[in-house]
Amino acid sequence: MRGAETKTMMQRVNQIALLGALSGVSLLAGCRQDMHDQPKFYPQRGTAFYVDGRSVRPQVANTVGRNQLHDDSYFYTGLIAGKEGEGLPFPVTLQVLAKGQERYNVYCTPCHSRVGNGAGMIVQRGYSPAGNFQGGRLRAVGLGHFFNVMTNGYGSMPDYAAQLTPADRWAVAAYIRALQLSQSAQRSDVPSGVDVKPIKSIAASEGLPESFGDDWDVATPAEMPGAAVPSSAPATSSAPAPAATTPAPAAGTTSSVTPVPVKPEKKEITVAEVKAGLAIYEKNCQVCHTAQLTGHPPTFPSLVGVVQRLGAEHVKNNVIHGAPPMPAFPQISTTELEQLVAFLTVPSKAGVATAPSTPRN
Ligand code: HEC
Ligand code: HEC
Repeated sequence: MRGAETKTMMQRVNQIALLGALSGVSLLAGCRQDMHDQPKFYPQRGTAFYVDGRSVRPQVANTVGRNQLHDDSYFYTGLIAGKEGEGLPFPVTLQVLAKGQERYNVYCTPCHSRVGNGAGMIVQRGYSPAGNFQGGRLRAVGLGHFFNVMTNGYGSMPDYAAQLTPADRWAVAAYIRALQLSQSAQRSDVPSGVDVKPIKSIAASEGLPESFGDDWDVATPAEMPGAAVPSSAPATSSAPAPAATTPAPAAGTTSSVTPVPVKPEKKEITVAEVKAGLAIYEKNCQVCHTAQLTGHPPTFPSLVGVVQRLGAEHVKNNVIHGAPPMPAFPQISTTELEQLVAFLTVPSKAGVATAPSTPRN
């Protein structure tokens, strides 16, 4: 379109028509199809380029991708003839354990905790209970099992193959064994001639508080999964170690972890209840806190995980009395309030996918 024509048009047509015409011009200008139509292979589609019609080329015979030979299959799988192996595929050194401790503290403590009892912070906030490494069964398994779990995931636990190289996964496995030993060491584990002192007397001589020598509060087998001892396996005592241990490499982990009841809700929440709660939410709350519960922080806080965060009573109070600038909702009945809380506890049961919560502080 020429400038002169456009000008005469401009005088005649109204603004909307002009907009349409202008965008037509710019569309035409952008309509070179060369990039789009370039010759290329489409995934899962054939091609006329190769005689066999396949766009995905078969591997060239007798070749191996660089650095992908993986001939040490135990190192890469943790399996020997399809079974999880016992030991480490390379020698354990202090360096390996230190690396394992560092990686473990980064990737595993959020769920398994620093002492490996499965009561990490995420679990305390409502995630499925993670395996208790101090339980009988997981004390008895070979290191190949830990490697395998990290490589492929286990039940509701995601895999860590992308985050941890195979060597790091083995280092973490070795460190987990050290963590286990730190809770069950016997005098006989200590080489003869080495002095073993009760930890309380070490605490006293180092001027540490008396509680330093207290046993770690490691969850009892009944409370944690992974602790179930299969009848065939020898039942190992899961009682915390006698106080006579030389500090293991795990000695940096002095925090005492109090296991928190993992299931906060007392009664089973039904899907019907949650669905009813969703309807109440949509009618009363969604306008400010959004359909995904994510709100518009900082003014309208996210309600993702709000029941786990503040407790059901707190949430009910907010609704009944309001929390200025949030209005009160006296019209919501007690039953409806329960349904609303049920929905806010497990929105996923009503099919509402929520983004992770961002606590306000
Ligand atoms: C996001 C939470 C989370 C993180 C992080 C996590 N795990 Fe787990 N882990 C779990 C859960 C949940 C289970 C229990 C899974 C089940 O039984 O369905 C579990 C179970 C296990 C088990 C027990 C498997 C069995 O035989 O019962 C091992 C071993 C394990 N995890 C190792 C690790 C290691 C090593 C790391 C760090 C690299 C790690 N986990 C990080 C959540 C986690
Ligand atoms: C008119 C907008 C609006 C509506 C509608 C509304 N809220 Fe709120 N809500 C707010 C605001 C604003 C706050 C922050 C109050 C503050 O700063 O203390 C809030 C805070 C909350 C909190 C506290 C969150 C926290 O992290 O401290 C809860 C729980 C809550 N609302 C639940 C609800 C529920 C349930 C409904 C529906 C019955 C609802 N709200 C309806 C605006 C609203």
